[in-house]
Amino acid sequence: MIRIGVIGYGYWGPNLVRNFSEQVAAAVTVVCDQRADRLAHAQRRYPAIRVTIDPADLIADPAVDAVAIATPVALHFELAMAALRAGKHVLVEKPMASTSDQAQQLIDEAARRRLVLMVDHTFVYTGAVQKMRELVINGELGDLNYYDSVRINLGLFQHDVDVLWDLAVHDLSIMDFVLPQQPVAVSATGLAHVPGRPANIAYMTMFFDGPLIAHVHASWLAPVKVRRTLLGGNRRMVLFDDLETSEKIKVYDSGISVDPNPENVYQMLIGYRTGDMWAPKLAVTEALHVEAKHFAECVATGTAPQSDGEAGLRVVRLLEAASASLRQQGRPVDIRGLVAG
Ligand SMILES: NC(=O)c1ccc[n+]([C@@H]2O[C@H](COP(=O)([O-])OP(=O)(O)OC[C@H]3O[C@@H](n4cnc5c(N)ncnc54)[C@H](O)[C@@H]3O)[C@@H](O)[C@H]2O)c1
Repeated sequence: MIRIGVIGYGYWGPNLVRNFSEQVAAAVTVVCDQRADRLAHAQRRYPAIRVTIDPADLIADPAVDAVAIATPVALHFELAMAALRAGKHVLVEKPMASTSDQAQQLIDEAARRRLVLMVDHTFVYTGAVQKMRELVINGELGDLNYYDSVRINLGLFQHDVDVLWDLAVHDLSIMDFVLPQQPVAVSATGLAHVPGRPANIAYMTMFFDGPLIAHVHASWLAPVKVRRTLLGGNRRMVLFDDLETSEKIKVYDSGISVDPNPENVYQMLIGYRTGDMWAPKLAVTEALHVEAKHFAECVATGTAPQSDGEAGLRVVRLLEAASASLRQQGRPVDIRGLVAG
């Protein structure tokens, strides 16, 4: 039985507590939040759990084997490092840390102490994203041409991170899991409509070696909620619509064929193919449930999680590059050599 302490019981923390509480191989023993009202809420729901306002108290508790961190991003590094130094396994929310240097330090500390370090890249554990990966690995989509995502709504304006660190991070974690290659350069543009606050609308483009491009449009200032991702290959294309209740993934047997005319490029013939569309059956278990089970298994067996510290680091590097590009109105930032595949 893995005993979990959860720090941060705001919006997301309760989902961690609920999903760990549902596990056979795990139990939540302590919940920490600096707000007394949040602790009262946790205590009402889970009377057997100890609550505390002090993260150090939770981390030092011998009845805690692993610490899950669901606080604002700025605290991820400090709390995760303190937990690792106390010999506890760590599950940290996305994005893993505020800088890639911090993410690397956490990886090194966990490795030195042989502790599990996992990042909550929730989408990686959804039936939809697992299916997308399977389609890519089985070659059903052919060579990939693009990843194109829109993640917008009238969202909560965060004060500490911009919309890319809040929303595009989901796409970066999906891409990290699904695409066979890592980006080599990043360009991002965006704007803050509230003075002094981080950008609330942003466009992030990622370039790869070869004919693959990725784009993410993220916004907290849209009148409608859209969560749509297209993954285009030269054989088939996939639409992932996370707001669809049953058919989240649709595979289109559509595409083009190019009949090259070496003599004259203007006479090149493009053939259009619009074939069948089908919606594959997907696993429907809640992603966090799958993830909590996976974390407990990794702790029990000492195996590396699917969304390990390295995955968290690759995503933070892309976000850092996006922030650097955003400050320069979209100048591409070369990350070749930084993000190893
Ligand atoms: N995986 C996902 O899909 C997903 C979804 C939403 C949020 N998140 C992540 O979860 C984290 C938290 O986001 P949220 O939306 O729940 O934020 P939130 O502000 O609703 O909750 C954070 C909680 O942490 C508490 N807290 C802050 N400082 C603390 C401290 N020093 N000690 C103890 N408690 C402290 C706050 O009181 C608050 O209750 C972020 O990293 C966010 O990116 C992940």
